[in-house]
Amino acid sequence: MNNQPVILCKDINLELQQLLDKHTADRIFLLTDEHTHVLCKDLIANSLKERAIYEITIKPEDTHKNTESLCHVWQELSTHGGSRNSLLINLGGGMVTDLGGFAASTFKRGIKCINIPTTLLAMVDASVGGKTGINFNGLKNEIGAFYDALAVLIDTRFLQTLDQTNILSGYGEMLKHGLIASQQHFEELIALDLENPPMDELQRLIGISVEVKRKIVLEDPKEQGIRKALNLGHTVGHAFESLALEEDRHILHGYAVAWGLICELYLSHVVCGLPLPLLRRASNYVTTHYGRFEFTCNHTDRLMELMMHDKKNVGGVINFTLLSNIGEVKINQTVDRSLIIEMLDFYREGL
Ligand SMILES: NC(=O)c1ccc[n+]([C@@H]2O[C@H](COP(=O)([O-])OP(=O)(O)OC[C@H]3O[C@@H](n4cnc5c(N)ncnc54)[C@H](O)[C@@H]3O)[C@@H](O)[C@H]2O)c1
Ligand SMILES: [Zn+2]
Repeated sequence: MNNQPVILCKDINLELQQLLDKHTADRIFLLTDEHTHVLCKDLIANSLKERAIYEITIKPEDTHKNTESLCHVWQELSTHGGSRNSLLINLGGGMVTDLGGFAASTFKRGIKCINIPTTLLAMVDASVGGKTGINFNGLKNEIGAFYDALAVLIDTRFLQTLDQTNILSGYGEMLKHGLIASQQHFEELIALDLENPPMDELQRLIGISVEVKRKIVLEDPKEQGIRKALNLGHTVGHAFESLALEEDRHILHGYAVAWGLICELYLSHVVCGLPLPLLRRASNYVTTHYGRFEFTCNHTDRLMELMMHDKKNVGGVINFTLLSNIGEVKINQTVDRSLIIEMLDFYREGL
């Protein structure tokens, strides 16, 4: 498990064709959402034109990562000749790769699937690592399974139609990977011209980013230890996301992560000695590109509660992943309430 090959494609049609030749299936299904159905399908049309493909399309966005869409996919697989030897291609962002991966893991006790991520977030995060699932009962990713795709095919040409906020959202996870990986990778990331990224350089950086996640996941597939490194920025980031949701403010996950990174780098500085100049640079970078998450001191208690309820905590203490420097991860760090308040003040007021 958790060894799905990630292929950085020069020619996605060729790669897909070779995969489909190698893993023969009695029926091939293509899962898209309403946006990727229109915007992304053409880029793989060549490899599919000689084959009988049955298309399944679901409504877009995380709000539709639910039982209704899942049942629709099961229904389509079941009534259109799906068998144990069928194959599902998931073409879309994290919503499609999560839901499609879960549908593949459960239909006939598991059929083959291939992930073709079309958002930056899905390329560097959602489509790798083997976690699949849906939201349920008001809770994110409440139902799911670990299930590997045969392969993940990455091609930055899909990003040409993606809006800048979704690019930035995916880049938030790449910054996180840079911070937990190495100084060199982090420097390369903050040097990239994000407004107008050269696609070959972006593809190279995506390749490194995926490798950072893949290596960690391979070492600790079930998140008992070092996989927690991937939670950097997420304890605070999830609290920001939940607060925004409660107040009907729409923010993308990767933005919350970028803002959460700044808070957790502050804690890293105070608790683990992360150098101050690094905190300053990262903080300036994030503020310049992502702006700020607005909140006041009246939100402190609620944010604290939300961090407390993060499902990754055990025994009523807030558990952070911190850094003593770039590439030096310290998992299972607990922090006093007073320092968390100081951190939130720092975020609002700066150094
Ligand atoms: N499994 C994991 O390890 C993991 C990790 C991180 C996130 N996730 C999940 O991933 C989901 C978020 O992923 P996402 O940010 O990709 O969101 P998404 O799949 O909802 O995509 C965002 C929007 O972009 C559209 N889109 C997709 N590709 C496009 C393209 N090439 N051009 C134009 N528009 C395009 C989609 O239709 C959608 O409207 C969440 O459900 C989250 O829980 C899973
Ligand atoms: Zn994340």
